[in-house]
Amino acid sequence: MHCGVRCQLMRHPLMVSLALVLMIASGAAIAAEPAGRTPKPAIEPAKTGTQCVAPPEVMRRDHPAMLKHQRDVTVHRGVRQARDSLQGCVGCHASAATGSVAQAKTDFCSSCHGYAAVTIDCFECHASRPAQRTAQAEAGKP
Ligand code: HEC
Ligand code: HEC
Ligand code: HEC
Repeated sequence: MHCGVRCQLMRHPLMVSLALVLMIASGAAIAAEPAGRTPKPAIEPAKTGTQCVAPPEVMRRDHPAMLKHQRDVTVHRGVRQARDSLQGCVGCHASAATGSVAQAKTDFCSSCHGYAAVTIDCFECHASRPAQRTAQAEAGKP
């Protein structure tokens, strides 16, 4: 494929930010390992006696794609109560202290995202607490 000077310049910053994202992502993955030199996000323990929908190393890497895929399956094909549902994550990962996955900086989703400098808007619409405990759910929000 032909790529002129302008196009090369357009490409370059893109590669830089891609490299950054990869560095951040692998940083977060290493973070769970003991004795690393980087400071670690506090991973709030999940509901006891449960198992995640996939092994932790898979979850750390693939959860954005899993959630986006699940959203498309639900919104476009009407499939609900599925394995990778966002309500499922919230149900198991809500903090015992705040009851939420994203209220306090130490809550499950926000602690890791704060560390990795990731911002998500999901909880502007979705409840960040298990269904039976939210006013949002009572108001019929997803
Ligand atoms: C503007 C509001 C809004 C935002 C922002 C939003 N969603 Fe949704 N989402 C919805 C609605 C509405 C549905 C459909 C719920 C239904 O029909 O059951 C939905 C459904 C879903 C589902 C399938 C149902 C479930 O609980 O699994 C997933 C997964 C999902 N969204 C993920 C996300 C993720 C991840 C983000 C952030 C990147 C996000 N959503 C941001 C409104 C939103
Ligand atoms: C049935 C309960 C349950 C559900 C549902 C669940 N998880 Fe988990 N999750 C766990 C448990 C327990 C762990 C701890 C590791 C293990 O034993 O599987 C975990 C681990 C993780 C980790 C790794 C944390 C670390 O140690 O670095 C991530 C990331 C994660 N889950 C994200 C999610 C997301 C995103 C969803 C929704 C798509 C989700 N989980 C749904 C129970 C659950
Ligand atoms: C172990 C650390 C960790 C935990 C815990 C974690 N995330 Fe993430 N998340 C990341 C990293 C790192 C990224 C950005 C890198 C990437 O896209 O792979 C990310 C990206 C995302 C994205 C995509 C954002 C975008 O704009 O594309 C969504 C959606 C998301 N996370 C949802 C969640 C939800 C919901 C939870 C809690 C149930 C959660 N994450 C818990 C580390 C984590």
